[in-house]
Amino acid sequence: MNKTVSPAIQVYPDPASASRALAAEIADLIRSREKKALPTVLGLATGGTPLPLYQELRRLHAENDLSFHNVITFNLDEYLGLDHDDAHSYWQFMHQQLFHHVDIQPQNIHIPDGTITPADLAAYGRSYEQAIRDAGGIDLQILGIGTNGHIGFNEPGTPRDSRTGPVDLSEKTRRDNAVHFSGLQLVPTRAITMGCATILDAKRIALLAWGERKAAIIRDALHAPLSPSLPASYLQEHPATTFYLDQPAASKLL
Ligand code: GLP
Repeated sequence: MNKTVSPAIQVYPDPASASRALAAEIADLIRSREKKALPTVLGLATGGTPLPLYQELRRLHAENDLSFHNVITFNLDEYLGLDHDDAHSYWQFMHQQLFHHVDIQPQNIHIPDGTITPADLAAYGRSYEQAIRDAGGIDLQILGIGTNGHIGFNEPGTPRDSRTGPVDLSEKTRRDNAVHFSGLQLVPTRAITMGCATILDAKRIALLAWGERKAAIIRDALHAPLSPSLPASYLQEHPATTFYLDQPAASKLL
């Protein structure tokens, strides 16, 4: 890992143009690997941020013959206690926003299972890691960022070597995500997430952030000293990370 080569920063006028640029890169990656008869392994994120990216990938599938037949996906995280049918689950989010609209093979979709019982969570986390390795590792990981610097659901305090497993959600994250629920008390208190080390194993990482409310944390993720208090700062050591920002999210960069 080499601090001098990464992250790269690309600033766009708005989320739509940033998402179009990234979706075009993803399409090139899928097509170039397909030519070599190789699958493409994508790490996927939820939240409001990747919505325009999934919209553009749906469009490329519908209008531009982009096939997901040879794509394997691993999602970052899921709320614990929510099953697949729950409208707030990330399983539902991903199927509504992307999977129902493209030709991905169902057995190639991996989303952490929010219904695993506490006793089985450690083994389940190891099996998720194994499935990523069996697929050949993640070629490109899409990331959002929490306003407290979390990546996936790795909250401040998470060590760099953490692996997939259960986590407690911070008050700040639950408050931020309460907009998607009918009240803070309905936001789950726990989740299962890929670890920081799992994320950093990805061959390439694309972190997306939009809007003024992300400007301070984007500045800190890029420029604050590496620290468990800011898990996104670990990306400073990843050799192939690009931050895709709109102008407001880039407005506090030095
Ligand atoms: C959730 C997800 C993160 C995501 C974050 C940001 O906490 N677990 O993966 O990056 O939200 O959400 P948004 O994109 O809505 O700002």
